[in-house]
Amino acid sequence: MTELTAIVLAAGQGTRMKSSRAKVLHELCGCPMIDFPVRAALAAGAREVVVVVGRDRDEVTAHLVRTFGASVRTAIQAEQRGTGDAVRAALPSVPDDATAALVLCGDTPLVPAAALAELAAERARGDRRLALLTFEVADPTGYGRILRGASGEVRAVREHRDASAAERAIRECNAGMYCARLDFLRAAVGALGTDNAQRELYLTDIVAAADGDAASLCADATSLTGVNDRVQLAAVEAELHRRIADGWRRAGVTVRESARIDASVALEPDATIEHGVVLRGSTRVGRGARIDVGAVLVDTDVAEGALVKPYSVCTRARIGPRAEIGPFAHLRPDSDIGPEAHIGNFVETKKTRLGRGAKANHLAYLGDGEVGEGANVGAGTIFCNYDGFSKHPTIIGARAFIGSDSQLVAPVTVGEGAYVATGTTVTKDVPPDALAIARAPQENKLGYGPRLRARLSARAKAAKEAGARAPAPVVPATGATEPGKRD
Ligand code: UD1
Ligand code: CA
Repeated sequence: MTELTAIVLAAGQGTRMKSSRAKVLHELCGCPMIDFPVRAALAAGAREVVVVVGRDRDEVTAHLVRTFGASVRTAIQAEQRGTGDAVRAALPSVPDDATAALVLCGDTPLVPAAALAELAAERARGDRRLALLTFEVADPTGYGRILRGASGEVRAVREHRDASAAERAIRECNAGMYCARLDFLRAAVGALGTDNAQRELYLTDIVAAADGDAASLCADATSLTGVNDRVQLAAVEAELHRRIADGWRRAGVTVRESARIDASVALEPDATIEHGVVLRGSTRVGRGARIDVGAVLVDTDVAEGALVKPYSVCTRARIGPRAEIGPFAHLRPDSDIGPEAHIGNFVETKKTRLGRGAKANHLAYLGDGEVGEGANVGAGTIFCNYDGFSKHPTIIGARAFIGSDSQLVAPVTVGEGAYVATGTTVTKDVPPDALAIARAPQENKLGYGPRLRARLSARAKAAKEAGARAPAPVVPATGATEPGKRD
């Protein structure tokens, strides 16, 4: 019985990314690149994964521990002396009872677990020394080429830089993914030399060392694309997005062409994700909910039947069943919008709970608040929650009515069923069922309009005439003007 382990190479400099960050931490669909091969190896049956780290190793290690816990360990390759040297660095961390190892690169994130499982099975059949994944492309520039013997057996891999013109014409490439018997791998990696264009220890030289006892498996080229620069990063991400979207479409979700859904998002059947929507992190969208054009949701929970209208931005928010949000709403962290509640255009909420059926339909800021069931918050209402030092709560009781353009100076409570008159600045608690009104009484001056109009028009006419009498300023020949002096 084979005990399968995995080694993922991720110590390289990633020079071609031109980045201050390790290549394997660059994200694809919201997930650092390294997560993909590690997950694929575990899903293909590896008991544990040894990731070889070098550049930014503390950061990469911290990320792996956070994400995978004990199933992943790291080995340090202090100096990046090639892929063969990286495997050398990993071998002491491989458990003694492991008999075969999958070897993968941290920069080939699209490889499916099924292809790795097949590769391991292919090697196990006849207990071969080695099995490797190959692919064919029209332009194989940069990849190692597969050299085959007279009877078609794999004899060696030749790196692009070391290849002759005839070898460069070969379109079958090395994917950089192998399954090796561990006793063979230890011996072959131990014997590697640096007789090549880059003066590095090439892992690919183990293929010649297998001396014909190497199986090959040809896989789909798209799945084996390596990410060496940001052009390839974009191509790989586009492919991942397509796979994620198609996966949800097959599961009964309508996903429009330009929607972008992170790998970590969960959707329920009959949800609709419109054009230009971005769903990130732990966002979940319930059955029948609709996320309309251009909305951006981060770590947000949308319950069944809810509607998020165009261009709303929601972060760490909860949206209740059949609630309606937006267009152009901004739900900030800890916003909790109850069932059937409405948040309209240009409304911002933060750490605020709305009860069932409560409404804030236009232009409002609701921070550190609670709005009871069926309450109505009028246009232009502000919860003045911050005094420059601390935040204070605003509590609005069930069925209360807050008139437009009111300010609620927190901490303050408006009781159940109370009214706040339009334009009121509420500084004291309002008892249940009371009416709070705080504004200057209105005075109507009868017939004042025409008088005012006549006065204003006379003043404008006088100003115009005074302007016409004054001589036009003369610009001196020097081009400079002196204030207060005329020629
Ligand atoms: C490698 C293969 C090539 C294959 C291609 C497939 C070698 C010599 N060449 O080339 O045959 O076609 O992958 O994508 O193996 N790494 C380390 N330590 C090092 C050097 C690299 O950990 O000292 C890691 C890198 O972080 C990377 C992986 O190994 O994840 C591959 O290295 P890279 O330099 O990208 O190799 P390629 O030139 O792509
Ligand atoms: Ca590479």
